Amino acid sequence: MLAGLISIDRSSAVPLPEQVYRALREAIGAGRLAAGARLPSSRALAAALGISRNSVNAAYELLVAEGIVTVRGGSVPKVSAAAGTLSEGEAPAIAARAVALSARGRAMSSDPWSRTERRRGGKLEPGTPSLDRFPADDWARTLRRVTRRLRGDVLSYGETRGLPELRRELAAYLTAERGVRATPERILVTPSTQASLTLLANSLADPGEAAWLEDPGYLGARAAFTAAGLDIVPMPVDAEGADPRRVADRRPPRLIYVTPSHQYPFGTRMSLARRAMVLEAARACGGVVLEDDYDSEFLFSGRPLAAMQGLGAEGEVIYLGTFSKSMLPGLRVAYMVVPEHLAAPLAVAQRVSGMLANVTTQAALAEFIASGRYRAHLRRVQQTCEARGRDLASALRQRLGDAADVPDPVGGVQLALRFTAAVDDLAVAAQVNAAGFSVAALSPYGIDCRPCGLVIGFAGAQEGEAQACAEAVAGAVAGAIAGPVKRHA
Ligand SMILES: Cc1ncc(COP(=O)(O)O)c(C=O)c1O
Repeated sequence: MLAGLISIDRSSAVPLPEQVYRALREAIGAGRLAAGARLPSSRALAAALGISRNSVNAAYELLVAEGIVTVRGGSVPKVSAAAGTLSEGEAPAIAARAVALSARGRAMSSDPWSRTERRRGGKLEPGTPSLDRFPADDWARTLRRVTRRLRGDVLSYGETRGLPELRRELAAYLTAERGVRATPERILVTPSTQASLTLLANSLADPGEAAWLEDPGYLGARAAFTAAGLDIVPMPVDAEGADPRRVADRRPPRLIYVTPSHQYPFGTRMSLARRAMVLEAARACGGVVLEDDYDSEFLFSGRPLAAMQGLGAEGEVIYLGTFSKSMLPGLRVAYMVVPEHLAAPLAVAQRVSGMLANVTTQAALAEFIASGRYRAHLRRVQQTCEARGRDLASALRQRLGDAADVPDPVGGVQLALRFTAAVDDLAVAAQVNAAGFSVAALSPYGIDCRPCGLVIGFAGAQEGEAQACAEAVAGAVAGAIAGPVKRHA
């Protein structure tokens, strides 16, 4: 009779013992074989199923190991009494209760980007670099070389804060190119700026403490700080960058997050006077500035101003950088330069939270920088981005006319345009994206302010895409103008 509960499929990729095991387990779980029920001997079941006795024995052994079946002495196997608790019917309900999200989990899993209407995988997505310019063949050769060369502790858990050779190269590069006070000992290599921000928010501030953020500003930083339970305090932004004098909430912040090289999302460069004010604000309250120097490798004209980290006094600024734009987001390598006294504890926090970067990738990056191929790659990508940014801006100006202020792209991989008329930017973004794009509405980047416009990526734009996007935006704006044309302040 038991054979009726088990159907053997000889054409299946699932081995025969596994098929018998799963069928019996399922029958017991569903109550078709009750606790205490006698099972046939392995010889009898093998004969009934037309399979080898070894296969049945192997299945029984697994069930015995799980405590679902017992075999005492030489007697026949029985379904164990404890198997009654294995009711498959109840299992999902128990599992669903057990995996409810915590309050922190809910904060961490509320996707800040979904509010912008952008959808992953569409064309002209903000933040996406020129994937088509990645030197794939050279990278593959480099990976092969370093994989053969790497030996010893670095392949194990030895250097969790980052491969020494990459930290050496980064220290030299950041000192020379960005005026950062960097030594290999003060650098931590992480998988992303997002990981760095999460680590810093959790390690340097307690829930309920204030963190100042640019308004409008980078959603990734806002999400990391919110998930860490920090109180987000908006710091208004104008043509000179963030202005700490206009922060209304005067509680002393633990963290002040800024993007001085290239403000996110507007692209403005923070003036020297403002940099000094931000440093002064941090100094006055014992907080720390988190300088996200994203896109400083991609400024199209002139050299970027030196990093704030080199301007400030020792310990006032933590410098953050990433290879996500200069190489690929998929490499998952970023870095931060931290004050000397924080390097060791943050390295432990990094290990505890598992925010470590792949060692082979780090070795390949170190070779790229040391050989000069990284700088050469940056020059090529910068030309591509500049040309694509110019194309997008001119297509948008042509199609939108007075309906939008379209800035000259000064660097990076995206631009933020502002509508001059009262339109619902979420509706515009949704309509444009329905045509296969992935542009973001600007308004969700505001905390207290409500900028109205779109953020559009240009670094990956292929032939004709800038024109097509500009047309889609113009069509959506024409349909969405809500009333008489009203200029935003
Ligand atoms: C302001 C800013 N910082 C950092 C990043 C990227 O960081 P990562 O991919 O290393 O998390 C982005 C990407 O869009 C960004 O816009």
